[in-house]
Amino acid sequence: MGLKSVWLVVVFLFLGVAVAKNVNRLNVWPMPKWVSRGHNRVYMSLDFQLVTDGSKYIDGSEILKDGFTRMLDVVKVAHVVDGDISSVDKSHIIKGIHVLIFSPDDQLQYGVAESYKLLVPSPEMPDYVHLEAQTVYGALHGLQTFSQLCHFNFTTRLIEVHMVPWTIIDQPRFSYRGLLIDTSRHYQPVPMIKKVIDSMAYAKLNVLHWHIVDIQSFPLEIPSFSKAVGWGLFSFRAVHLF
Ligand SMILES: *[C@@H]1O[C@H](CO)[C@@H](O)[C@H](O)[C@H]1NC(C)=O
Repeated sequence: MGLKSVWLVVVFLFLGVAVAKNVNRLNVWPMPKWVSRGHNRVYMSLDFQLVTDGSKYIDGSEILKDGFTRMLDVVKVAHVVDGDISSVDKSHIIKGIHVLIFSPDDQLQYGVAESYKLLVPSPEMPDYVHLEAQTVYGALHGLQTFSQLCHFNFTTRLIEVHMVPWTIIDQPRFSYRGLLIDTSRHYQPVPMIKKVIDSMAYAKLNVLHWHIVDIQSFPLEIPSFSKAVGWGLFSFRAVHLF
């Protein structure tokens, strides 16, 4: 073997180590407070269910249900998930996620409890994922984290969760995790603003500082926050409705 080929072998070994390291890297963002994981693999059932038995939270405004649907969209993206699940050992199929929320309250305000605990699979119900949180907003973060553990396999055409069992205990390191967009100086179309808001949810940000107008008054009338318009007006004749 010439010197050149020795170098090639060294380079390939190095690349091999780098790739192997990549496979074991934790692909969860932002980094949860506490994580442990195993070496097994489970498969998501084709009709993955949301179960909320035992929750104090009723989900009257369907915040959790919508969050669950968004999670499935993020996991499936545009893939055709039509693999042969019947060929998979039943003990490796996850039928759904059991979400346990301790507070019935869905008031969203700064400082709301955002912590959650995620177990894949649930030790008590091994064919379910277990997610528990103080509030529905913590549960939404947990769903976001779960979506990041799921992978579409192009060979089996199924959604897989690698490195189970997972235990993730998480809470924010900073209570204010914000992004500022300034549409008063730099025009952004509405679909773009919606994308920014979606991406904030992926990254578990919780404050959108939206610089809507560049004057000292606040003339924007938002029907769902009707009080806001009274606070900073020049006059009630100087109101914008969008
Ligand atoms: C996809 O599934 C096949 C068959 O089970 C497996 O050999 C392969 O490692 C999987 N691919 C990924 C990226 O996990």
